[in-house]
Amino acid sequence: MWKGRLALVAALLLETANCSCFSDDSAAGVCLLQLKSSSSRLFSAARLSKLHEEARKTIAKEAEQVAGRIRSGNQELSQDEREHLARMFQQTYQFSAAKAWSIFEKDNTTLVSTGDIRQMWLRDSSVQNEVYLPLAARSDGVYAVLASIMKRQVRFMSEDMYASAFDPLGPNKEECPRTQSCPNCRCDTCQPACGPFTYQHDFELDAPLFVMKFHYDAWKATGKTAHLDQDFAVVAREVLELLRTEQHHNAKSQYFYKAEKSQVADGTGLVWSFARPSDDQTELGYNIPQNMMVVVVTSMISEMASEVLKDKGLSKEAADISNEVEAAIEKYAVGQQGNNSKMYAFEVDGKGRQLFLDDANMPNLLWLPFLGYKDRLGIYQDTRRYDLSARNPNFFQDQQQQQEQAFPVAESGRSPVEGLGSTHESHGLRPGGSRECRGHCIWHLGLIAEGTTSQNKSEKVRILREILKTDASTNLLHEGFSPENPSQYNRDQFGWADSFFARWMLKDFAS
Ligand SMILES: *[C@@H]1O[C@H](CO)[C@@H](O)[C@H](O)[C@H]1NC(C)=O
Ligand SMILES: *[C@@H]1O[C@H](CO)[C@@H](O)[C@H](O)[C@H]1NC(C)=O
Ligand SMILES: *[C@@H]1O[C@H](CO)[C@@H](O)[C@H](O)[C@H]1NC(C)=O
Repeated sequence: MWKGRLALVAALLLETANCSCFSDDSAAGVCLLQLKSSSSRLFSAARLSKLHEEARKTIAKEAEQVAGRIRSGNQELSQDEREHLARMFQQTYQFSAAKAWSIFEKDNTTLVSTGDIRQMWLRDSSVQNEVYLPLAARSDGVYAVLASIMKRQVRFMSEDMYASAFDPLGPNKEECPRTQSCPNCRCDTCQPACGPFTYQHDFELDAPLFVMKFHYDAWKATGKTAHLDQDFAVVAREVLELLRTEQHHNAKSQYFYKAEKSQVADGTGLVWSFARPSDDQTELGYNIPQNMMVVVVTSMISEMASEVLKDKGLSKEAADISNEVEAAIEKYAVGQQGNNSKMYAFEVDGKGRQLFLDDANMPNLLWLPFLGYKDRLGIYQDTRRYDLSARNPNFFQDQQQQQEQAFPVAESGRSPVEGLGSTHESHGLRPGGSRECRGHCIWHLGLIAEGTTSQNKSEKVRILREILKTDASTNLLHEGFSPENPSQYNRDQFGWADSFFARWMLKDFAS
């Protein structure tokens, strides 16, 4: 069905676009186009390779200029700290362009690895490249590369709406059901069929939402709309169908992956998800940060549909979903922990059970102001206080330091090492490679979310200093690190964290 629709779209484009068709991929029935304008999203491999090189140069130049501003500003930091920060900015900002982009050979679009893992995650690839949007507003070349990334995302999604990650070498046979196109696939319980490149078939509700948000943010940052083409429109429609289906998971969904831990109530308005943003299975089925992202992103789809795609029906359907999910969050996801004031739960089942915690993987509750979720009930600040306290099971502190805290922190002359971590285990801490971090590592993603959403400059500086002293002298960020010994960490090349950090620096420390 997908291939048919895309072929039709390609045929329509052929008729209307000023283009030359240089390659006919008959398997997919898609005739690739080379538009004359710089807004083209499909190129020859040679042309794309050149575009990558040129964009990397533009990005490197920008990194140097911003690093100069970081060095000369930020007088609240010491000279050493400013130097360290400038180096760290240069490396984190350039990381994804330098290390994660490659050419997806089947159609010469741009594939984005996580940095250290070959596969392309929809979530990571979006955040890794959103950091280049301000530059894409000024550079057609950078925009062209980002558009070719978005094209790849949309094509992956069109082949498997339930996948969160894709592998250029083909489907993950353990994750996919046996089908005609994958006779060696081994997952007995999985359905529906995977796409030809599905790596993780573990439906993570936020994954398709990140792609929609990246498209919207690209439009808003650059004013350009070439990436909001008919392929995109088809997939945006499919995202809404997916949300409608998973609002009635028991009655309507064909999706099955593994035994579900809890049965949700259908028809609450909330959208079911198999996995959390951490890739771990949901406990209660309705993950609230993911549903908050539905509220925000369906509004974005509504706006793109009315203003760019000129599709009133799509726009209204998206706005309806946004309103429904928002009302459901306010009805089912507000609760109280102990004697505290009201706060948002992390997960619910729609039958009265609520789970309170937060996790460093985004979307989470901590980043809501960054996401642009309207906190109509005014309970974000109380939720945040809970998230950043020992009451949240994923908030970790340096145990040794805590014991020494018969002396107040200020007197000991050290600021606390503490922050949000994750229930997702961090394997293979260095040095040694075999240590694990079960429920005790702080995540750089958590610290960045805390810093970027804080409204207090001295708080921001405190968190920035904590990051500066926990990079294990690599000038790059990591996944989890041991609070007692930050030189023990995992993930040397975690592009998502690097880009998110660079984006925070551009916002708060580079003016
Ligand atoms: C990709 O680019 C190569 C070389 O530039 C070209 O030969 C090939 O036909 C292109 N592939 C597609 C699917 O357009
Ligand atoms: C809740 O408040 C009551 C009454 O003030 C107090 O006795 C109790 O210790 C409080 N519980 C917690 C968990 O703070
Ligand atoms: C900002 O944070 C600092 C350090 O935590 C605190 O002392 C100060 O009162 C805060 N300022 C405001 C306006 O909240």
